Amino acid sequence: MGGGGVKGLGQRVPATESAEVSVTLASPLTTPAGRDVAADLPFRARGPVSAAVLEQLVDGVPTAHTVLADAAVAASADIERDDDLQLALFALYASSYGAFAAFRADLEWDPGLIATRRVIETAFERSLRRSVEVPEQPAPTADAVARALFAMTGADTGPSLSRHLARKATLDQAHEFLVQRTIYTLREADPHSWAIPRLTGRPKAALVEIQSDEYGGGRPDRVHAALFARAIRGSGLDDAYGAYVDAVPAVTLASLNTMSMFGLNRRLLGAIVGHLAAFEMTSSIPNRLYAEGLRRLGFGDDVCEYFDEHVEADAVHEQIAGRDLAGALAEDRPDLLGDILFGAAACLDVDARVGQHMLDAWSRGESSLRGADER
Ligand SMILES: [Fe+2]
Ligand SMILES: [Fe+2]
Repeated sequence: MGGGGVKGLGQRVPATESAEVSVTLASPLTTPAGRDVAADLPFRARGPVSAAVLEQLVDGVPTAHTVLADAAVAASADIERDDDLQLALFALYASSYGAFAAFRADLEWDPGLIATRRVIETAFERSLRRSVEVPEQPAPTADAVARALFAMTGADTGPSLSRHLARKATLDQAHEFLVQRTIYTLREADPHSWAIPRLTGRPKAALVEIQSDEYGGGRPDRVHAALFARAIRGSGLDDAYGAYVDAVPAVTLASLNTMSMFGLNRRLLGAIVGHLAAFEMTSSIPNRLYAEGLRRLGFGDDVCEYFDEHVEADAVHEQIAGRDLAGALAEDRPDLLGDILFGAAACLDVDARVGQHMLDAWSRGESSLRGADER
């Protein structure tokens, strides 16, 4: 389907011939000043903080978002599942990525918006550091760090989204899986690129080697985000960035926000490097299973190619990321080793939440996407 077509409440998205995926969208939330900026965006606010942030990002008029964010952070029981705060943070990062033309470019470094970002980031980082289990530190050598990261990623024995996709998922569930993935994968690799100028020597060369593949090695049609956009179109979904923001839960936004926070804050350099290492190390086999499942459900090569590509690419990337990127960084900067492990653990934890959310919803016979009752 064409860009921008999935805006209406309860509208159903035509999928492949035999099925439809139901994508129920949230209702508009007007800003404190009363104007509904949703007309300028493919998604809606989810509470007072996100409404105030969106209003300033679009209209440029300062709003009370920092005060509102302070109050919301204090009142939030679980910031990783907080729709209003995760959407506000997603929007603030989207301003830096340039993800939405409606966000005014001159506001990227607005002190008020940055203050709000810091309020939410501080609480989000504190929550991640509290909930994530980080293993004991290995010696700061490339080999020992790579081994420790492979041990962390190999120890994941929880229920597997990829195995479910391969063997049991229905066509609707496969569409939901693709919808959930659009939030990050249509911008694949961008969060980790923020780290490039902050690295030197071996880790810099290693990151650029990985990112060069992610960005197609000079071929625009091979850019991984473009391969994924093709998969989204091939499955009958909308590949316009942001088309499904309203459909995904806070945990899905939190997954991208985790990497954006690590990438955009220089003090978290170790964490974004560890995040990429864990991401690459948990990619090759799941992608083989995703492709298997999608083919089982009748999807064609246009949809499966993105997943096929990652089976081999990430078997290479995980070696580079483990030893030459994370391992070499730990050798050069032993002070960052703790954050390298934290970033890896956060990647596994946050993405496990997303997978678990989908599996839990499906095991109850429900959709993993936001429904009308969550408006
Ligand atoms: Fe990729
Ligand atoms: Fe990769």
